[in-house]
Amino acid sequence: MKIKKPIIIGNWKLNGNKATIYNVLHSLIHFLKEKIIDNTIVIIPPSIYLDYTHQLIHNTKIFLGGQNIDINLQGAFTGDISLVMLKDVGVHYVLLGHSERRTYHQENNLLIAKKFKLVKDLCCIPILCIGENKEEKDHDQTKCILSKQLNIILDICGENAFDNAIIAYEPVWSIGTGNIPNPNYIQKIHEYIKQYIQIKTQKKDKILNISIIYGGSVNQHNIQNILQEKDVDGVLVGGGCLKYHTFSQIIQLASSIKKYNFN
Ligand code: PGA
Repeated sequence: MKIKKPIIIGNWKLNGNKATIYNVLHSLIHFLKEKIIDNTIVIIPPSIYLDYTHQLIHNTKIFLGGQNIDINLQGAFTGDISLVMLKDVGVHYVLLGHSERRTYHQENNLLIAKKFKLVKDLCCIPILCIGENKEEKDHDQTKCILSKQLNIILDICGENAFDNAIIAYEPVWSIGTGNIPNPNYIQKIHEYIKQYIQIKTQKKDKILNISIIYGGSVNQHNIQNILQEKDVDGVLVGGGCLKYHTFSQIIQLASSIKKYNFN
């Protein structure tokens, strides 16, 4: 499956119900039908609504993503979610390492790397979230944190780990706060991530295949400035994707950015 830029991902987190999902998607599907929009759009609903969402978006331009998986595929693991089951209800993308999973469920880099491998092995597309918290930023540790989060994936999955995968740079201090880094800062970090993987894998020619998107307080007012930056391949949107009007504006503004026409 080819990932087409700009990548727009909407993570509904623990929000919504059947009625709100129906309303947002009904309008969104109608909106997308009328536009020549050719980029990758992914919706990530709570797992209980994956099947329902899949029925609504089937045969449309929207892809389905899961918010989490267990490292086991089946068996006596009460309350967990299997990737095989997610695939069975139409999931193609899986979010991994989101800071809310790292913080509230103590997911560490090793567990996230094992999940990443599983997602790749079963031919889905991982969306790996990485990023520093406020304290780490203030202590100038951003690059060190990011390299640790990337290293373990490369160690476990090898040098092709990030082919056909998405990395979401999400500074934790920006998620849900309205505090967005300067686009120039975002560009510098994305460039660092690309160069870091390039050096670690010694794959200079293949570096252009990596998709790095930005997440944290993205909305219809700041999306264009973020996407203008050279190494930003898309966005991961939380609060801004819950309402049709804001999410459709985000998609519309993203698809009007010229630099992606050359991808
Ligand atoms: P936000 O969330 O857009 O509400 O900041 C982003 C995310 O958690 O991925």
